[in-house]
Amino acid sequence: MLRFVASTVRVVLFLFLLIPVLRVRGEATGERNNVCPTYDDYYTIKNNSKCWYDLGAEYIAPEIIHLLGYPVQTHRVVTPDGYILTVFRIPNDGHRNPKAKKHPVYLQHGLVATCNNFLALQKDSLAFVLWEAGYDVWLGNYRGTFYSEGHVNLTVRDQAFWDTSMDQVALIDIPAIFQTILSHTGADSQIIYIGHSLGTSFALMYGSEFPEESRRIVKMFVLLCPAYTLGNMISPYKVFAPYGNWIVDTVMDLKLQRIVSEAKELGRLITPVCLESPPLMRVCMQFYNLFYGAKADFGAEIVPVYFRQLPGGTSIKILNHAADLVLGNFRKYNYAPKINLQKYGSRKAPVFDISKIEVPTYIVYSTQDWATPEADARILYRNLHPRARHGIRKVDLPNFNHIDFVMGRHARKVVYDPLIQVINDAIN
Ligand SMILES: *[C@@H]1O[C@H](CO)[C@@H](O)[C@H](O)[C@H]1NC(C)=O
Ligand SMILES: *[C@@H]1O[C@H](CO)[C@@H](O)[C@H](O)[C@H]1NC(C)=O
Repeated sequence: MLRFVASTVRVVLFLFLLIPVLRVRGEATGERNNVCPTYDDYYTIKNNSKCWYDLGAEYIAPEIIHLLGYPVQTHRVVTPDGYILTVFRIPNDGHRNPKAKKHPVYLQHGLVATCNNFLALQKDSLAFVLWEAGYDVWLGNYRGTFYSEGHVNLTVRDQAFWDTSMDQVALIDIPAIFQTILSHTGADSQIIYIGHSLGTSFALMYGSEFPEESRRIVKMFVLLCPAYTLGNMISPYKVFAPYGNWIVDTVMDLKLQRIVSEAKELGRLITPVCLESPPLMRVCMQFYNLFYGAKADFGAEIVPVYFRQLPGGTSIKILNHAADLVLGNFRKYNYAPKINLQKYGSRKAPVFDISKIEVPTYIVYSTQDWATPEADARILYRNLHPRARHGIRKVDLPNFNHIDFVMGRHARKVVYDPLIQVINDAIN
């Protein structure tokens, strides 16, 4: 382990030393080019006619929505335990699709991300494709992410702010956001929930814990790259999973909680390095693809957008909770046995029983996804009660990995457009 850490440190130092050599100088004026279709084009980005300006690499979510010509509203949701969440809405009067009026769509992003994930592909982003199809689109950001760092009594500097696992997101944030949505769209509306990656786990947890409530207010769950138990994960995350509790304790003892968790802090570490030059961009994306899947569909033009929008900030307990999925569990946050006994009355954390889910659930997965692989998507579908199985679809391109569901060049064609058909059929 120590040798591994030492060699990693050496590689990182080496990359830092290369920076001055590889530097590409840009000028910060007006609508200059900021993205290019290949890594090599970035060397001449300034007056390269193949490069262009993408506002996704520059702005935050409400600005992107507005600048692309869509209406946007910002809603604050205060949870019962005091977190202040920011939810964006792209309101739609539904005249293109009258049936959609009663079915607002809620989009939930995954781990270390924000709602920007659904805005990354300009007008071909999932949020806009849904809006064009007539849907009223709501974009959530769970506690601790870049847009949701508020609390009535705490700040991000307080350790207690980050004392939050997937349980609080699924069982407190999601129901609170749903109440806000329904208060605007009408108590008889039924929400269509679309999640990506860990954003799907919250749906499964919420639907298992509150089967009655969720059946009443949710029309369907759409799970893109579902994260239930992930025993078949290929990525190196697997290596760290067994040490999860130890890592959490160490980070807390060293008071590093905030550096690991807060979006700004992490971004300060990663973004400058990865956008410094074309070779570093390539290295960074190859590193990320160890998690997402080796064969990717996204192009070099998305990399500045990706780093402008990631990381989104996530508590270390959520990272550890996600690691528990990799160990093959789908349960509440697992503490040491003694603490489990105090919190749950049993030495083991209670399991979320997904066979209780009553909401029709539709799954889309990819064969090239290393993070949420095909085998685990199949296990999930089998474990759902037959009444909840609304369908499962495989994306079978030779290169379409985990992150391509939000950033791939073909995402609209192979995921979003077919999905709109499924949703339209479901509400008809
Ligand atoms: C634009 O490109 C040409 C050659 O392709 C080069 O000579 C010129 O200096 C470049 N201009 C700027 C402003 O970089
Ligand atoms: C915030 O602090 C006040 C005063 O101490 C307390 O009454 C209230 O319950 C706290 N709210 C939350 C959500 O923790």
